[in-house]
Amino acid sequence: SAAEKGGWDSFMDKEIHEDPAAVQRTLLGRFDDSGAIELDEVRIDEHDFKAIDKIIVVACGTASYAGQVAKYAIEHWVRIPVEIELAHEFRYRDPILNARTLVVAISQSGETMDTLMALRHAREQGSKVLAICNTQGATIPRESDAVLYTHAGPEVAVASTKAFVAQITAAYLLGLYLAQVKGTMFRDEIRQQVDSLKDMPRKIQWVLDTQTAAVEQAAERMANAQSFLFLGRHVGYPVALEGALKLKEIAYTFTEGFAAGELKHGPIALVDAGEPVVFIVPPERGRSVLHTKVISGIEEVKARGATIIAVAEEGDKDVQRYADVVFWRPACPTLMSPLVDVVPLQLFAMNMAKIKGYDVDKPRNLAKSVTVE
Ligand code: AGP
Repeated sequence: SAAEKGGWDSFMDKEIHEDPAAVQRTLLGRFDDSGAIELDEVRIDEHDFKAIDKIIVVACGTASYAGQVAKYAIEHWVRIPVEIELAHEFRYRDPILNARTLVVAISQSGETMDTLMALRHAREQGSKVLAICNTQGATIPRESDAVLYTHAGPEVAVASTKAFVAQITAAYLLGLYLAQVKGTMFRDEIRQQVDSLKDMPRKIQWVLDTQTAAVEQAAERMANAQSFLFLGRHVGYPVALEGALKLKEIAYTFTEGFAAGELKHGPIALVDAGEPVVFIVPPERGRSVLHTKVISGIEEVKARGATIIAVAEEGDKDVQRYADVVFWRPACPTLMSPLVDVVPLQLFAMNMAKIKGYDVDKPRNLAKSVTVE
C-alpha cells in the first residue's frame, strides 16, 4: 500500500532513500568512544579469531558484490587473503578449508539456498562461519557460528539497494575488528577508518539531495539505449558489476560490468558510436594511479564515439572534459567510495525502469529470495 511505501512511488524508491540510515544503523553501537570496534555478537573467541589466516566470502548476486568490495579493504587492513566465491560454485569445487579459514556468508534474506548449502559445506569441513545478514533469526544466521546483523530494516523491492551499503559497512566493521584482534593496524588507524565510515551517511544523503535530478535526466536521455557497459577499477569494479546488475534486473537492458583494465583485452570491441559506457572514476587524491588509468580508459572509449557517463569526485577536471553526463560524489577515501558511488546507479536503474513502464519492485522472472538451489 501507499502507506507502507512511506509516500514514495515504490519500495525501491523508499529503500534507496534509506541508504544513509542503513549505514548509520549498521554502525550503531559497534565501536566505543575511543573508536575501538566492539562486536559483542560475534561469539567466536579471540583465540580462534587471531588464528584466522584466510577469509572466504560466499554469497550470490548483490551480496557477493558487497563481499568483493570488502576484499579490497580487508586484505589491506588485515593482511590475510580474502576470496570471494559465488555460493553455488563454491560447494562443487572441493574448496580448501580448515579451522583457520573464516567463511563469511553474506545474505540479505538469510534464506538463499545456494548460500545456505555453501555454509553447511564449510562447517562440515571444520571452518567457522560468520553470517552477515539483514533478517533476524533467518536460517543462514541460525546455522552459522556467529552473526553480524546489518540493520538496513526490511527490504521489500526485489532489487537489493540499502542492504548492499549495509553489507559493505558490516564487512568493513568485521575487517577492522580482525585488524584490532590481530594487531595489524594501530588504534589510531582504526579510529580513522571508523570516523570515515561515520561520515558516509551524510555523504550518501548529499548524493540523494543533489544528484537525483541529473540521474533522472540521464535516464530520460538513455531510455532507448539497447545496451550499457559499466566499468570500474579496484573497489569501483564491484560497484560497476552491481550497477550493471541493477539495470539488468529491473530495466531489462543488456548490460555488462567489466574491470576497466580489461577494456583492451576484449570488451572495447563492443564500443561503437553512441554506446553508453558508465565509468566509476576513483578519487583523484590518494591512489591517484588508479585515477589516471581510469581516465585513460575513458579517453579510449570516447575516441570511439561512446557516450560517457561518469561517477566521479566533485570538481574532477578530467571527468568534466570527457564525460557527457556526470553523477558527482563528495570527496571521500577510495575505500569508502562504493558506499556513495552505488547510489546514483541504483537511482539510474530505477528511473530507467520507470520510464519504460516496468514494475520496479517486482521485476519479471525474479524472486526476492531464491530458496531453491
Ligand atoms: C539483487 O538485486 C538481487 N535480486 C539478488 O542478486 C540477491 O542479491 C541475491 O539473490 C542474494 O540474495 P540474499 O542477499 O538474500 O542472499
